[in-house]
Amino acid sequence: MNTKYRKTVIAGNWKMNMTASEVRPFVEELKAAMPKLKGCETVLCVPAVNIPAMLRWGKDAKIACGAEDVSAFAKGAYTGEIAANMLADLGVKYCIVGHSERREYHKESDMLVNAKARALLDNGISPIICVGESLEQREMELTMAHINYQVRAALHGVDASELRRCVIAYEPIWAIGTGKTATAEQAEEVCREIRSIIREIYGARPARSVSILYGGSMNAKNAAELLAMPDIDGGLIGGASLKPADFATIIAAAGAENE
Ligand code: PGA
Repeated sequence: MNTKYRKTVIAGNWKMNMTASEVRPFVEELKAAMPKLKGCETVLCVPAVNIPAMLRWGKDAKIACGAEDVSAFAKGAYTGEIAANMLADLGVKYCIVGHSERREYHKESDMLVNAKARALLDNGISPIICVGESLEQREMELTMAHINYQVRAALHGVDASELRRCVIAYEPIWAIGTGKTATAEQAEEVCREIRSIIREIYGARPARSVSILYGGSMNAKNAAELLAMPDIDGGLIGGASLKPADFATIIAAAGAENE
């Protein structure tokens, strides 16, 4: 982390877990366990139906509410979809786009990820843009080429003032939900590369200020080591964000780095 230039973001991704009635007890337990925050943004991205409860109970604990997905369209005949202005109207601050599970199970393309990021930015919501390589790509030494393509595609048409509201999350697919974390060095290498791609597109200053997160089996034990890396500005946390004590430990690790 480099807290002089950029914001630390610890974001949970609940995926398809937890009901709305479980939100309040969860937040109360987390609030009791987590340290007082200093310069660290805590976010919980939750299933759409849990958003009102997270906004209500998270406020006191200074937990920002995020969504897990959004439609690329503004409105209309898209049964089941949720538009960015609906999220914004509720008070949602962040939304994940391009998560590998959506790319895989819903065949979301880089173009669609770009359109979703655009829809969010147009409505004042910060996209958390996920990129990451598969194990095959890593073994074929295609990681950097793949990341380069994904970052450039996701940010197409996004100008420097909008970039300031974007968060990038590096999530190697082989590390998600598998218990196999990238080593701090492997994660740092790709996060540093992402920053240099952004430097090429936008220049030094925007690259220095953009927050880049690591995600993929980040947990209470390995968070401190990952967060100590200079280009890792936080985490996108799945499994461990469902356990208040573990999530609080990760927030504390970020807080300690912030001191
Ligand atoms: P994980 O998930 O922490 O359970 O590996 C991370 C993510 O998918 O964002």
